[in-house]
Formats: sequence, structure tokens, C-alpha cells
Amino acid sequence: MPDRRTALKVVSGGALAVGGAAVATPSLGLVAGPAVTTPRPERPGAHPAGAGADEAGWYRVAELSALRPGEPFQATVRGDEVDAWSVAPDRRLGAVWLLREAGDAVRALSAECPHVGCQIERAERVFRCPCHVSDFDLQGRCLTGPSPRAMDPLDVRVRDGGVFVRFVRYRLGTAAREVL
Ligand code: FES
Repeated sequence: MPDRRTALKVVSGGALAVGGAAVATPSLGLVAGPAVTTPRPERPGAHPAGAGADEAGWYRVAELSALRPGEPFQATVRGDEVDAWSVAPDRRLGAVWLLREAGDAVRALSAECPHVGCQIERAERVFRCPCHVSDFDLQGRCLTGPSPRAMDPLDVRVRDGGVFVRFVRYRLGTAAREVL
């Protein structure tokens, strides 16, 4: 039968093992590398998540074949979120509205409301920001509400069947359009 001193050794040894495992677990994560995520389309026709931007800042956000003329298509922009200290891969950076026009021509509008940045959605025959109810026509012009300007345009191009946008953010709450 173990005496009191032996029992204390067993208890303290167990505690050390548990503590060591807790310390070692993050280290194991570093050795094994970051978790692997499987890209999945956000919706039919959208480009698989996590594609990110090329060196020139173009994000592939949709396939042209998914866009129907006159029918706005909302696409998600995903990529690396970078700040002064770190890079977080495969984050949702924002959303854009794509409008297919004649032929392969496409226009892109940021879905970020110029008022204070809520996401602009589709409502009947307009775009609507639900936060303070700003309405925009399908060209992005502001019809009603507190938005100080029209929806913000984004550069867009079509290449190899894909729709690419150069995703930028604009200053909110100002009549003048200013890229941040
Ligand atoms: S954030 Fe869109 S109307 Fe206020």
C-alpha cells in the first residue's frame, strides 16, 4: 500500500503530465502546419472560396456562365486578411454585385453601403441597404435614404470564363468617393 509521500508523487506527476500536454498542444499545431480547408463554392456559379487575389489585386469571384443579363448576381470576395501584424488566410473580405450587360460585359458594384457600411441587398427591383433603408437603382444610383452617394463601382474584367474584380474599400459617409 503506497504511503502518503508516494501518493503525493503520483498526484504531482499526473499534474505535470497534464500541464505538459497543454503546453505541447499548440506546439504540435505548429509542427503539423495550419489546418487545411477544402474550398467550396459559396453558391452555384460562384468561384470556390479561398481563391484569393493575384499579384495585381484581382479576385476571381464568379464564373461568367452563372450571370444572366439583367439579373444582379451577388458574389463573395475571399482572400487573405492582412494587418500590420498578421495574415489571416481565406477570410470573407466583402461582397460585390455583378451585372451582366450586353455580350460578355459585366459591371461590378461594391455591396458595402456608402453610408456606414452595411451590406446592400436586393429588394424587388432595387438594391436596398436594410440598416437605414437606402435604396439604389440597378445602376447603383441612390434613390432614397441617407446614403451620401451612389453605390461604389469596382474595376471588373472577364478572362478565361471567370469574372474578376479589383476589390477596394471606399471611405464611408462622404459624398466624395475616396479609395482607402
Ligand atoms: S448603412 Fe446603409 S443606409 Fe445606413
